[in-house]
Amino acid sequence: MANTNTSKSDKSSVLQPSLPAELYLDPVVYQNELRKIWYRQWIYAGRTDQLPSPGDYMLHTIGNQSIIVTRNEKGRIGAFHNTCRHRGSALCQAQQGQFKQGQIICPYHRWSYSLTGDLLNTPFLDLADANRNFSLYPVQCQSWKGNIYLNLDTSRSVELGETADPGFTVLNNWPLEQLKLGHSHQFELACNWKIFWENYLECYHCPGIHPELCKLVPLYKAALSTDRLDPDTELADAVGSGIESWTTTGKAISSPFPGLSEAECSAGHTFMELYPNQYIVAHSDYIRQVSITPLATDRTRITAEWLFSEEAMAGADFDPTPAIAFSKQVLAEDAMVNEINQQGITALPHRQGYLTPQEGDLAGFHLMYMKWMDIPV
Ligand code: FES
Ligand SMILES: [Fe+2]
Repeated sequence: MANTNTSKSDKSSVLQPSLPAELYLDPVVYQNELRKIWYRQWIYAGRTDQLPSPGDYMLHTIGNQSIIVTRNEKGRIGAFHNTCRHRGSALCQAQQGQFKQGQIICPYHRWSYSLTGDLLNTPFLDLADANRNFSLYPVQCQSWKGNIYLNLDTSRSVELGETADPGFTVLNNWPLEQLKLGHSHQFELACNWKIFWENYLECYHCPGIHPELCKLVPLYKAALSTDRLDPDTELADAVGSGIESWTTTGKAISSPFPGLSEAECSAGHTFMELYPNQYIVAHSDYIRQVSITPLATDRTRITAEWLFSEEAMAGADFDPTPAIAFSKQVLAEDAMVNEINQQGITALPHRQGYLTPQEGDLAGFHLMYMKWMDIPV
């Protein structure tokens, strides 16, 4: 357990204030968050193999911004705002599809654009050399290990991976770029997006909320999300003895990915967060990645994806159910506490909550949030 050896009089000093409740409830704050965080940071938009051919596209929404993500003739994936440069009509309605003959055609007056966003044709009008002034509004788009990321801030102030904790390199040995999407699960939560992250970042709730997960990871049973939180703990940040992976049986669903170290296999899980939008949990046999999309002050969409090796998926006896069912159970348990947390903070006298030592990682998240929001620390 975390150190709570304080005298009786100053016992409450182990508690640190959490964020003010209004930051989870105020629609004005929410709009500021979109502007200062979600329209400036890198956001996961899908997998590169969802767009196998030139002209394939999908739409992605961030806040109230609709973005076209498409693959051009040179094979590069790029992104644009879903807005015509003539009078601003939306270009696409379908969530995914194919631009025929390499042209994005506005349905309103039929201005057309290339797959790189250049204006091609303007019916009954010759704009001649001025065409280049009317390219589609660009959106930054980069891929990493088969994941596509967007950034609406074209000033390029944030590098992809800058907000990754502990950093992209922690997943160097996992062949994420070669893995295939085996299953995805999307659902909406009646809570603020920060409540989802806060719950993800602590295991103070684990003994009461995740009994099955605690059987796999002894550290979680001790209410610690990481061994860093208690220098005295003898528990490792790893699955218990005899456990291979996060599944309903504790057994891996396929052989370990080649290239993993012995330590990576025996740890049973390796986490990476890419704030504010995604976390990735890499196991020896599969990867789960979860992305977080704010919809309103009290509404958040969660998209969970399970990725497996192509070879494993091709096996006649491949059954990913133990991996999928296990993580869905944990997500459902967390969903319940996420929603009751949001309900409770609406109480008129509630100004803010408190963080215990076991919730130490929330403080770092809050500091990052306040920096993004220009709130003095
Ligand atoms: S708004 Fe697109 S062509 Fe007129
Ligand atoms: Fe949890």
